[in-house]
Amino acid sequence: MAWGGRPQDGNNKNSCRPAASHPGTWHAPHYTSRVYAPAIGYTGCMYDYVLIAHSLWRWVVIIAGAAAIASAAMGLVRQAPAGPAGLYGRLFGIAVDIQFLMGASLYLVFSPMTTVALNVAEGLPQGSDLAFFGVYHGLIMTIAFLDVHVSAVLIRRAKTDAARQRRSIFLYGQTLLLILLTIPWWRPLLRV
Ligand code: HEM
Repeated sequence: MAWGGRPQDGNNKNSCRPAASHPGTWHAPHYTSRVYAPAIGYTGCMYDYVLIAHSLWRWVVIIAGAAAIASAAMGLVRQAPAGPAGLYGRLFGIAVDIQFLMGASLYLVFSPMTTVALNVAEGLPQGSDLAFFGVYHGLIMTIAFLDVHVSAVLIRRAKTDAARQRRSIFLYGQTLLLILLTIPWWRPLLRV
């Protein structure tokens, strides 16, 4: 497995062993949170696998969301039935569900960073990765997860195809925007 992290993070090794040294600060934008592993004595490999899957799956979420919005918009313009938009909407919901499960398992079990974040008693440093992943990312993405399902129900309840398509554009549009705004874009775009 090729890592390519910063050398001092200890992530450029073909192994799942924890980083050898600790950077001494929570503020640096670390490439992965394996750098926090020594702080909690973590040595497992599952973190690496789930992080890679969670990182790559974001593209499935984005593409499914964009397809749901685009097919609804095209259906509206062509005055076509709402069928395909409904299919892409369901795929968007399933993609977010899978991402949510991976994110929750990182947050609650595998991520050394959130394990540290949950155990910091005196508050997390503003603007740090610890604060972003420990609080904002998980919280806002959980709202997006609920949002996509509430949206699906509201879309299904619309009376006409055109109303369903308009709701798909607006409701899936705001869900996708929320997700796009909460993705940590400073992390690798393709983690393999
Ligand atoms: C649609 C929803 C989500 C998307 C698109 C998303 C996307 C991402 C991305 C792109 C990363 C960076 C991966 C990397 O470093 O290569 C990440 C990290 C992370 N995500 Fe999510 N995420 C979502 C939902 C969630 C949820 C709901 C949770 C928790 C409840 C969560 C917890 C985490 C954690 C803990 C990390 C950092 C792990 C670490 O560096 O140790 N994510 N997410």
